[in-house]
Amino acid sequence: MKIAFFDAKEYDIVHFSAAAEGTGIAFKFFETKLTADTVQLAEGYDGVCVFVNDVVDSAVIEKLAGYGVGILALRCAGYNNVDLSSCYGRIHVVRVPAYSPYAVAEHTMALLLTSIRRIHKAYNRTKDFNFSLSGLTGFDLHGKTVGVIGTGKIGKIFIEICRGFGMHVLAHDKYPTEGLAEYVSRDELFRRSDIISLHCPLTEDTYHLIGSETIPKLKKGVVILNTSRGALIDAEALLDGIKRRIVGAACLDVYEEESELFFRDFSGHIVEDDVLARLISMPNVIVTSHQAFLTEEALTNIAETTVGNLKAYFAGEALENELCYGCNKVEECKKARSKRCF
Ligand code: NAI
Repeated sequence: MKIAFFDAKEYDIVHFSAAAEGTGIAFKFFETKLTADTVQLAEGYDGVCVFVNDVVDSAVIEKLAGYGVGILALRCAGYNNVDLSSCYGRIHVVRVPAYSPYAVAEHTMALLLTSIRRIHKAYNRTKDFNFSLSGLTGFDLHGKTVGVIGTGKIGKIFIEICRGFGMHVLAHDKYPTEGLAEYVSRDELFRRSDIISLHCPLTEDTYHLIGSETIPKLKKGVVILNTSRGALIDAEALLDGIKRRIVGAACLDVYEEESELFFRDFSGHIVEDDVLARLISMPNVIVTSHQAFLTEEALTNIAETTVGNLKAYFAGEALENELCYGCNKVEECKKARSKRCF
């Protein structure tokens, strides 16, 4: 049971090697991402394990299917990088639906507090024995209105955390949870929120949901938090909104063009992405490189769930965490009966 593991980091190797011990699953760790140029590395493997920025489009899937790869194991929850329709009937796709929603929700609050209390500035100052407070004035979260878009596993926990700070919560979701918060339309949320936090998936409907059309609708000075997916925000429009003083601060754990940059060390290099460079240069922007998930608890869950998904596949058992294109699109989808999509 040989699995080609793409975009492997040292923490992946530690946790996945431990989880696979004694299971008969052998991971071959490749540092490179899966793309059309690297897909041939998967030849001779039974399965492939990928993360958020690997490219699993129809061309890559065509090649994988040709090599006889039968399973694609995502070691993440989001799957906007996978062409599920191309996989259907050929390659089973499994994921880790939840590994630690607490990790992401807590990181979101960490970013918010860092930003509004200027912790990032204070940290650098005191390291240099500069104890001046000038320019460090923040604001209380207590009594402020936070708008949460996407009230699934992570959004719900973030709402609980915000309530602990005495904030008023507005929410927007395609499928509201009764009694959770005051659900409002997107436009009303944009108009009333002092802080907006994005916790919905990236879909056609949510692409650039913060963009040039919506930024003028935001409350002046709003703080925008994105720990979900980069393309929920049009980064150029955000930059413009910051320059026009509509957006008061932005905290980004994800970025639309992150795949070429995030998870790697570019210190000492010239970064070509002018929009990201300009955003990072802003005093009111904090960027972390898709690290919201990165806790010991989450890494252990990710490794154990992924190995469990692979074991179930090889044992011919039900695939609880299978992503199915067929379920929604094909009448004869078998998932309800056989617990496998095809
Ligand atoms: P979830 O599936 O539990 O919740 C997503 C929610 O968004 C659902 O309630 C859904 O109804 C809602 N939604 C879907 N379309 C919507 C729309 N058009 N407008 C408003 N709401 C909509 O997902 P979970 O686990 O809470 O994750 C949220 C996002 O966080 C994921 O999509 C993923 O991209 C991201 N994520 C980021 C991580 C990081 O390290 N930065 C780690 C894990 C997840």
